[in-house]
Amino acid sequence: MGHVDTGKTKLLDKIRRTNVQEGEAGGITQQIGATFFPDIALQEQTKKVDPNFDLEVPGIMVIDTPGHESFNNLRKRGSSLCDLAILVIDIMHGLEPQTVESLELLKKRKCPFVIALNKIDVCYQNSKTYTCVREALDRQEQFVRDEFRQRYDKVVLQLNELGLNVALYWENDDYRRNISIVPTSALTGEGVPDLLYMLLYLAQTLMASKLEVEEELQCTVIEVKTIEGLGTTIDVILVNGTLREGDQIVLAGMDGPIVTTIRALLTPQPMKEMRVKNEYVHHAMINQSMGVKICAPGLDQAVAGTELQVVGPDDDLEELKDRTTWTTSSTASSTALRSRPRACTSRPARWARWRPSCASCRTDMKIPVFDVGIGEVFKKDVKKAMIMKEKKHPEYAVMLCFDVKVNREAMEQAKTDGVQIFTADIIYHLFDKFTAYMEKHKE
Ligand code: GTP
Ligand code: MG
Ligand code: NA
Repeated sequence: MGHVDTGKTKLLDKIRRTNVQEGEAGGITQQIGATFFPDIALQEQTKKVDPNFDLEVPGIMVIDTPGHESFNNLRKRGSSLCDLAILVIDIMHGLEPQTVESLELLKKRKCPFVIALNKIDVCYQNSKTYTCVREALDRQEQFVRDEFRQRYDKVVLQLNELGLNVALYWENDDYRRNISIVPTSALTGEGVPDLLYMLLYLAQTLMASKLEVEEELQCTVIEVKTIEGLGTTIDVILVNGTLREGDQIVLAGMDGPIVTTIRALLTPQPMKEMRVKNEYVHHAMINQSMGVKICAPGLDQAVAGTELQVVGPDDDLEELKDRTTWTTSSTASSTALRSRPRACTSRPARWARWRPSCASCRTDMKIPVFDVGIGEVFKKDVKKAMIMKEKKHPEYAVMLCFDVKVNREAMEQAKTDGVQIFTADIIYHLFDKFTAYMEKHKE
């Protein structure tokens, strides 16, 4: 977790030896990501820090979250799924608004975490890839080390002011009381072995019992995606429990609960990001924390951000369906949206993403919202926006569409009716377009 552009995705890229970050629209993360790191890959790094470190876990799943302020709900969801967090701070910027927000989330959940103080290469003179950070620091000239220390002290002070005790991880003499700081560079990989070492050390020493697999299913839908050849699939994060091919599952749908049967369970290759289209590995059964793509019929209306349930032999299907419905309505809180002054109709992509954008429209951008929706934009949506034309503020006949398809019929209807449609795949571009439009209108 952490503020936008502190280097969360880049750090993962460095561990994976991938290049996901550069493929992101606008260079910002706008979804939850997931990557599984198997023990062999971890061992390669941890042995640099401590050759005798005994790796006991089969691997770790790392969840990547967006830092942009609009995606507060994804940060919440990401942090609610994890046992241990990495808070990334940019050494040049220190604490920023979403750093503080993340700290509050972690505190509320009592979630243990380490701090990656990232971008140390900016102070450095000579770098060597994937080396341990103490070695990297020792390699620097005195004035570089002084600059590092000065910036480090500043961040420590800011953290102290929030009531947090922190220490460089190798100077930390009480892991339960002090939060460890690991200086890192996602550019050179310096400190990356230390970061993994620290995570695994804490996991194995402080929270071993918490990491045992529990039987009760905990599985959250994070994305609904159409994949060529597979149809509509859902990406889930399996935290606890077991998923099997052929399992009957229940999950929230836009028009009510969906009951279907798992046709295929796919995961990305180890060390590959779930968000990126890759070759998939097929599984008959998964009982390990993992990002999983589920193929099943009838997933078109599935809603991201909700829980998935498996129907067991003793379960009452109707009861499970009821539980799902409840989840849906509680996530939607549509009455709150609809009771606001009526104006613009926005219909961004996924549940997981339209909610923050909508909340952000109303509170930060002061854009009044008439209605919200998920998925492809149809003619009927344009007709709804048209209603504004008959009101006091016809200029609000606008649709803000985030990362979603607007079909041709809808486009034509909008042209005929004079409804403005703004689309964007980077969330803040949508706000920029709307603001520019309103300014022009005022003129
Ligand atoms: P969001 O997901 O949008 O919140 O951002 P993020 O925290 O994932 O940051 P990201 O990985 O997108 O990196 C942001 C920018 O910082 C990119 O241009 C990176 O190349 C750069 N960057 C990240 N880590 C480092 C680092 O350690 N050193 C330097 N010099 N640049 C870095
Ligand atoms: Mg990112
Ligand atoms: Na970024």
